[in-house]
Amino acid sequence: MSRYEEVYRRSLEDPQGFWGEAAESIAWDARWDKVLDDGDAPFYRWFTGSRLNTCYNCLDRHVEAGLGARTALIHDSPVTGSVASYTYSELLDQVARFASVLQDQGVEAGDRVIVYMPMIPEAAIAMLACARIGAVHSVVFGGFAGHELAKRFDDARPKAIVTASCGIEPGRVVGYKPLYEHAMAESAHAPRTVIVKQRETQPCDLQSGRDIDWDEAMAKAEPTACVSMSATDPLYILYTSGTTGQPKGVVRDNGGHAVALHWTMSNIYGMKPGEVWWTASDVGWVVGHSYIVYAPLLHGNTTVMYEGKPVGTPDAGAFWRVIQQHGVSSLFTAPTAFRAIRQQDPQAALIGDYDLSRFRTLFLAGERCDPDTLFWAQEKLRVPVIDHWWQTETGWAIAANPMGIEPMTVKPGSPTKPVPGWNVRVLDNDAKELERGQIGSIVCKLPLPPGTLPTLWQARDRFYSSYLEDFPGYYKTGDAGYIDKDGYVFVMARTDDVINVAGHRLSTGGIEEVLAGHPDVAECAVMGVHDPLKGQIPVGLVVLAAGVDRPQEDIAGECVKRVREEIGPVAAFKHVAVVSRLPKTRSGKILRATMRQIADGEDVQVPATIDDPVILDEIRESLWRIGLAGR
Ligand code: COA
Ligand code: AMP
Repeated sequence: MSRYEEVYRRSLEDPQGFWGEAAESIAWDARWDKVLDDGDAPFYRWFTGSRLNTCYNCLDRHVEAGLGARTALIHDSPVTGSVASYTYSELLDQVARFASVLQDQGVEAGDRVIVYMPMIPEAAIAMLACARIGAVHSVVFGGFAGHELAKRFDDARPKAIVTASCGIEPGRVVGYKPLYEHAMAESAHAPRTVIVKQRETQPCDLQSGRDIDWDEAMAKAEPTACVSMSATDPLYILYTSGTTGQPKGVVRDNGGHAVALHWTMSNIYGMKPGEVWWTASDVGWVVGHSYIVYAPLLHGNTTVMYEGKPVGTPDAGAFWRVIQQHGVSSLFTAPTAFRAIRQQDPQAALIGDYDLSRFRTLFLAGERCDPDTLFWAQEKLRVPVIDHWWQTETGWAIAANPMGIEPMTVKPGSPTKPVPGWNVRVLDNDAKELERGQIGSIVCKLPLPPGTLPTLWQARDRFYSSYLEDFPGYYKTGDAGYIDKDGYVFVMARTDDVINVAGHRLSTGGIEEVLAGHPDVAECAVMGVHDPLKGQIPVGLVVLAAGVDRPQEDIAGECVKRVREEIGPVAAFKHVAVVSRLPKTRSGKILRATMRQIADGEDVQVPATIDDPVILDEIRESLWRIGLAGR
């Protein structure tokens, strides 16, 4: 039996022993009554009865162990031309002070705090400060607009928002104030405290009596101690896209999260404490939560936080520069970042300008990794390139090539095999297990390992109906794919309305809701169409209300503007075609898959149930006019 098989088998046969052993790497205030609590199945909890503090495990513990002088965080910001670093002692000091700033505003354990910030160290400091006092942070990605922020206010009902005066995108400065003011005005549950980090690039006005200047508050603050939390208390809520425009508040607990993430750093990523780790993502996504902030710090690594892009800041050599300058051992990013680099520097000539001798492994996730990108990265970097598969809900990888257990042969297009703790199966619509090689719904047998979502925020019924109801005894991933004869998992597509745009997860249903709100739109459909850089992009088809005779281009332009203003630029919604009607089945179901095939220039399988096949010609022509449909 291989080492992987041995570890994998043990994790499933004896989860209590397996995760109980892993939990020895975490510092607890009180030990657990049970490693796995199945008293309320299919709702499972890990480490019930125990107490700990996640921030203590990320920072204080290392300082107390004499590692205070080790670099904890390096902030590398090509958009401001600056690099700053914090030792574990310095980061602890900042976090402990900001925790008391929050306490001074009445934030207590269990209160929610929205963090709406660009990629600056203060974002990580705010997250860890919440963890320190048991407040529940909910980070909102800066590319989301005010309306999306308002939805999160309404659901999380935060006591405070921590934000910054601006974010910096190549070529434009994004002022945050108009965005959060919009959300404050729209939401019935806006926070009453606003803490603002003023940035030199573009400071903003503060509203007296409500807004607090980060620097001024920190100058007066004294460090505060950790609050001991129950392992099952929420650490954070992270909203993610589902089928509708109402995002799902994925909850993460304290205990299982700390145990699982610590375990992944050595077992999946093969990292040793003290080494430099870089995740090029954003703290607004789960990848940023787990692998910019929590996991590397829990494990005593140095984490690089990068405020820039793979290209354009200043060029396609940016990643190689950061790897060399900070002595990065491993990089984790999304395949789209590598597609962007390849597009601008196909021969990777810029790699030759840098010394990458300390660079060991590249990890890719967030979207399907096309074999072309994998081969290119392997050939140019000459290091193992590891595709791994996971989701906001799971918080860490379901399938991966576990570099710290036993590196396995790579099969391009597959994120390799299930990670220990994950019992992955493929089922048909009747919940019957399919044979190897057959495509179906990818599910994971319950209980899920620690660190995965125990529920959705204030929505246990939605948690059950979204993930547990369709396949009793299993967690539904929402992904379709197959497992091959050697046990390799292949993740092919989503089974729902979620699309993946440059590694960002979006709901086509959510975009449709925005388009349907346009007064001239009677009906609409949005689908994810293939894009060579971003993987997928959303494309909208709209049918105008009877009697509307304004120019179609004007209405299409307004639709694009509306999505940008209501969801945000991150939706990358730029393609809309006006059509006379949408293709449907005789029972009235919109044939989105057929339209997507047309847009992608694929052979179209006309469904037998279509009400009127002639409409497909008009759809093809309309998509052609906006640059799609095999053009
Ligand atoms: N705040 C405000 N706006 C933001 C933003 C933020 N934090 N992040 C992105 N945007 C904006 C961009 O400026 C862009 O606006 P534009 O339409 O005016 O050009 C839009 O949102 C789309 O952004 P993005 O998806 O980043 O596309 P891009 O064309 O600017 O860059 C890549 C393409 C591939 C370089 C970029 O997507 C990337 O670096 N991806 C890395 C993958 C990643 O981090 N994935 C996260 C999960 S692992
Ligand atoms: P998110 O919750 O934003 O991390 O998005 C999760 C979704 O991204 C998954 O359900 C998959 O559809 C997709 N995804 C992430 N990683 C991979 C991967 N390595 N291969 C294929 N799809 C992936």
